[in-house]
Amino acid sequence: MRYAVLGTGSVGRTLAGKLATLGHEVAVGTRDPSATLARTGTDAYGNAPYAEWQAAHPAVALVTFAEAAAGADAVVNASSGAASLDVLAAAGAANLAGKPLVDVANPLDFSHGTPPSLDPVNTDSLAEQIQRAFPAAKVVKTLNTTNAAVMVDPARVPGPHSVFVSGDDADAKKAVTALLESFGWPPESVIDLGGIATARGTEMLLPVWLRLYGVIGHPDFNFHIARA
Ligand SMILES: NC(=O)c1ccc[n+]([C@@H]2O[C@H](COP(=O)([O-])OP(=O)(O)OC[C@H]3O[C@@H](n4cnc5c(N)ncnc54)[C@H](OP(=O)(O)O)[C@@H]3O)[C@@H](O)[C@H]2O)c1
Repeated sequence: MRYAVLGTGSVGRTLAGKLATLGHEVAVGTRDPSATLARTGTDAYGNAPYAEWQAAHPAVALVTFAEAAAGADAVVNASSGAASLDVLAAAGAANLAGKPLVDVANPLDFSHGTPPSLDPVNTDSLAEQIQRAFPAAKVVKTLNTTNAAVMVDPARVPGPHSVFVSGDDADAKKAVTALLESFGWPPESVIDLGGIATARGTEMLLPVWLRLYGVIGHPDFNFHIARA
């Protein structure tokens, strides 16, 4: 498969690296490839410059958002939640049409300080905003409730734990579930919550995740839904 991963942060790098390891053709999307490669020093989250990651992953292309999406069979939104609609507009509605759009972003709002709140929240979600803005894309929300490293290596967290999928297109959800299984998620760990509006619930798990991170002190944990 040809994947476009829109985002050069730790999530974009982690997912792109895993997809390439699995034998997929991967293009990472960014605003300005030259500017991204020219960055030095760590970013706001402490990630090494993208050029260092690129040197270690020569098979992964770095192109514009539009170039990445144009050449892809499936697209991953791994951009800042506040910028995701702009990023996807730059990718181009026509380049997203008919394709699974795996949305792992969280609509974090830092305008009220830290920890961040969410915008949108409760009566809407980022995933729904994306689906409304790009009606021909097949948006599937998933993986936003775990740390990037756990997304592609769920065994980092011992024991059974859960990952959620939300989306209106059954075939796209099936394809994304198969992708999750290729990342190492056991079939029984994947919980299909239903349509894209159910992403309101998984996006609202982020405030809980952030408080757990504060208590646990590292990101190798996850939610486990135990049931009778
Ligand atoms: N960190 C985690 O473990 C984790 C876990 C679950 C979900 N998430 C979610 O995954 C997403 C990616 O997180 P991240 O930490 O890897 O990256 P991030 O720093 O949140 O986002 C980086 C990407 O957003 C783009 N971007 C930022 N501001 C922009 C703007 N004004 N216009 C256009 N593009 C803009 C950047 O473009 P350039 O490449 O051009 O700089 C870059 O590609 C976020 O929504 C986050 O909430 C993160």
